Amino acid sequence: MIHINNLSYQYPDGTLALDSVDMSIDKGEFVALIGKNGCGKTTLVRHLNALLTPTEGSVSVFGMDTKDKSGVWNIRQTVGMVFQNPQTQFVGTTLEEDVAFGPENLKLPPNEIRKRVDRSLREVGLLEYKTHAPKALSGGQMQRAAIAGVLAMEPECIVLDEVTSMLDPGSRGNVLDTIQQLHQSGKTIIYVTQRIEEILPLADRIVSMNNGKIEFMGTPHKYLASVESDIPAITNLMRKLKAKGFDVRDDVFAVDDAFLEILKACDKRKTETSDNG
Ligand SMILES: Nc1ncnc2c1ncn2[C@@H]1O[C@H](COP(=O)(O)OP(=O)(O)OP(=O)(O)O)[C@@H](O)[C@H]1O
Ligand SMILES: [Mg+2]
Repeated sequence: MIHINNLSYQYPDGTLALDSVDMSIDKGEFVALIGKNGCGKTTLVRHLNALLTPTEGSVSVFGMDTKDKSGVWNIRQTVGMVFQNPQTQFVGTTLEEDVAFGPENLKLPPNEIRKRVDRSLREVGLLEYKTHAPKALSGGQMQRAAIAGVLAMEPECIVLDEVTSMLDPGSRGNVLDTIQQLHQSGKTIIYVTQRIEEILPLADRIVSMNNGKIEFMGTPHKYLASVESDIPAITNLMRKLKAKGFDVRDDVFAVDDAFLEILKACDKRKTETSDNG
């Protein structure tokens, strides 16, 4: 669906933010893009809907080259973007007005607009707030409202750039649940975060960047096996148990999996102890 070929990008001031990036994203995939501050995540995702175009190399979305100006409108409908700060993304005085903005620009008939607004707000769990002012919502609700605005354009793919970074843990969970549901309903998700723990259970693939380059690409389990620091607390615990001689997997990041692994290891110890008398 998205092909990135040998993409390099230099900002006008000379900063080389992306350096020969190659990557493809399949329809329906959930890709998490991770990496330290300034490694180029935002610059990369801004290329996916032609907010930026390559200095070198190319990006294509469903076969449309992002450098081809005639396709930009189409590309922006295919790839929707949600950013870190929801306050800056609102244009309407009520939630429904705000979500209707995109479909209105598509010049859709009024009843189709109404359908899309209701469906999008329902999908993010905010239908009952449709007459509320976006600015009166909580941080997590605002972020879900911003997602509804993107959904109303019916994009194939949704890019979310550090959308939970300003939220408390509870609202973060609600936003992540919403994103997971969208993925399950078939949307392609590209999720930028510095919080590796929140995304390991959700992502099909982890793409880790460093200094404008892709450093690692693979499943969450392979990612964990490849790193030594910045690992989730639960994985760390499993590594410590393993080092102490417990027969547990150390690429586990979900509490339920860790629980089962520990139970198994304890049963095994019990059997061994009783076998030895
Ligand atoms: N408008 C700009 N002009 C010049 N350099 C920029 C601009 N925006 C970003 N950069 C630089 O490009 C590099 C990549 O920045 P980018 O914002 O893509 O990183 P990031 O991984 O999204 O970081 P963060 O985690 O802080 O959001 C950094 O060195 C940054 O300072
Ligand atoms: Mg960024």
